Amino acid sequence: MSQNNLESSLHEARLFAPPPGFAAQAVPNSAQLAALHAAAAADHVGFWADQARVALHWQRPFTQTLDDSAAPNYRWFADGLLNVSVNCLDVHLAAHGERPAIVFEPESGEPRALSYRQLHTQVCRAANALRSLGIGRGDRVVIYMPLVPEAIIAMHACARIGAIHSVVFGGFSALSLRDRIIDAGARLLITADGGHRGGHIVELKAAADKALAEHTPIEQVIVLRQTGHDVPMQAGRDLWWHELLAAQPDSCPPEWVDAEHPLFLLYTSGSTGKPKGIQHSSAGYLLGAKLSTQWVFDLKPADVFWCTADVGWITGHSYVAYGPLANAGTIVLYEGGPTYPDAGRFWRIIERHRVSIFYTAPTAIRALMKFGDDVPKQYDLSSLRLLGSVGEPINPEAWMWYRSVIGGDRCPIVDTWWQTETGAILISPVPGVTATKPGSCTQPLPGIAADIVDDDGNAVTRADAGGYLVVRKPWPSMLRTIWNDNERYLETYWARFQNRYYVAGDSAHRDADGYYWIMGRIDDVLNVAGHRLGTMEIESALVAHPRVAEAAVVGKPHEIKGEAVFAYVVCLGERPEGDVQAFIDELRHWVGEQLGAIAKPDEIRFADNLPKTRSGKIMRRLLRTIARGEDITQDISTLENPAIVEQLRGKSSS
Ligand code: PRX
Repeated sequence: MSQNNLESSLHEARLFAPPPGFAAQAVPNSAQLAALHAAAAADHVGFWADQARVALHWQRPFTQTLDDSAAPNYRWFADGLLNVSVNCLDVHLAAHGERPAIVFEPESGEPRALSYRQLHTQVCRAANALRSLGIGRGDRVVIYMPLVPEAIIAMHACARIGAIHSVVFGGFSALSLRDRIIDAGARLLITADGGHRGGHIVELKAAADKALAEHTPIEQVIVLRQTGHDVPMQAGRDLWWHELLAAQPDSCPPEWVDAEHPLFLLYTSGSTGKPKGIQHSSAGYLLGAKLSTQWVFDLKPADVFWCTADVGWITGHSYVAYGPLANAGTIVLYEGGPTYPDAGRFWRIIERHRVSIFYTAPTAIRALMKFGDDVPKQYDLSSLRLLGSVGEPINPEAWMWYRSVIGGDRCPIVDTWWQTETGAILISPVPGVTATKPGSCTQPLPGIAADIVDDDGNAVTRADAGGYLVVRKPWPSMLRTIWNDNERYLETYWARFQNRYYVAGDSAHRDADGYYWIMGRIDDVLNVAGHRLGTMEIESALVAHPRVAEAAVVGKPHEIKGEAVFAYVVCLGERPEGDVQAFIDELRHWVGEQLGAIAKPDEIRFADNLPKTRSGKIMRRLLRTIARGEDITQDISTLENPAIVEQLRGKSSS
């Protein structure tokens, strides 16, 4: 995959300047962007202090900007006091109270809108409800909900009272939910009777009940009635959202918290078996989300912004729940599947709500592209003025289709590079200024000291030479630690270059114009349909099956999803032969139960053994080559069991 990206980017010579009409109205324009870069270059810390003073509403201003005394556990604006929900809602009430904050499109049925005032009222009621249950500052609340306004209300309600939310994507299994609840030490779970997806009901409450079947720290469960189908309620533990909120007052004094108070935890996969709870701060995080929304999306009051991400992912935090609201924008929220009831659904939503800024993942673009140009051409997409892409490298073909068929050749495309850990977009075009190249995320935003270094940590200066993508200086929206595991934080992001840089885990190269091209992960993390999956997590899930002795999981390029999950499995006893489909289905289902449907292997191949070196290390690179059906060029003479290669290549047992 990386090699392919390198190949394609080396041949990519197309350059698209911002359309003059767009550039003329954009903020920042080229002079403003140059001034921001100059200010950041002259005084990195002072630049961020100036931004934080202007962009955020402080209950008590900060006097210290960056505290690096415990680096790389950096602290920003530490003695300042603020509230994130106040910064996203209360500050807009006077000027924009009646403006729509959320336009919600259910999978079936009529859309509804919530003005800033209505959203504020709902958040206050939910916050009061949480307080009535004894939830307060520092308590962890797990949110396991469909993509509905109440999910955002729940997040802001936590922020309002200083509780720490941890949203778990509704597609994760009961066991994954349980693990996250336990790791976070959450006292409260907020869920729903179910959600809608592709005409089906996602049984969230059933999964929640299963997650809580054995002891967890959860004391109470709030259940939103969303589908209306019958679900069992456990007396003394489960409470209906509507009953609880009905009794609450419409206003709720905010809890003022320190800038560094954790706003949320969000679990993401790493290269070991256990997902890590990425911990974000209040002020630094919000500053990153707010400013990047301005810089990258040029968000203006008249815009209708639709980011298709679920709030279970970081994109749904920064560019659904927080960034656009901090800027008084109008967001579109769509609960259901992208092709329900047909492949025109996204385009119909854009037409209906006059969406002006659309932000989605390459996997969605590729999937919709497959249906042909005629589908989007049936809709009026003239309201669009800017398109965005996130989550994985976008191939030039999909980029060009996005630009011409969806954007009518008039909308700039912002290919935004960032991560759960970075909190906000770090590398991206600024749409009124940067000339774009299909497949490149172009250049770092102001105040982001990104770089590419070699194995020794020296900057790679030769054009097109690859290396580690790093960030040389701390930035406000960076993660603060891994919940309950600071050692792992230090080890994962800092140890590689002795704490000198933040190591993103991606490889990248820069072309002669200084444009960044992301080549892919350098660790054992897969990127399937824009979602991160740890190979070890899937391997552990497979090995937990009573018939599986050993498993190795690798990525294989996939036309739509970017990467597919390919698993080699060694069984206890005989290697399954003949009609193995039923067993493959069973294993796929098993992984779905353990982790969630997104982690199900696309292909499973059985073997008597895995290729190992004499020291016992699985040769993953070899397994990747075999999964791709490529010729083996690496040296296999060091293999403990060279004969296994032929069997692994065989199609007989897959
Ligand atoms: O490998 C990079 C890829 O997604 C990873 C981060 O995944 P996650 O934390 O789930 O966040 C996804 C949404 C921000 C990165 O390490 N990635 C993200 N954006 C891009 C990308 N790869 C290439 N181009 C991008 N624009």
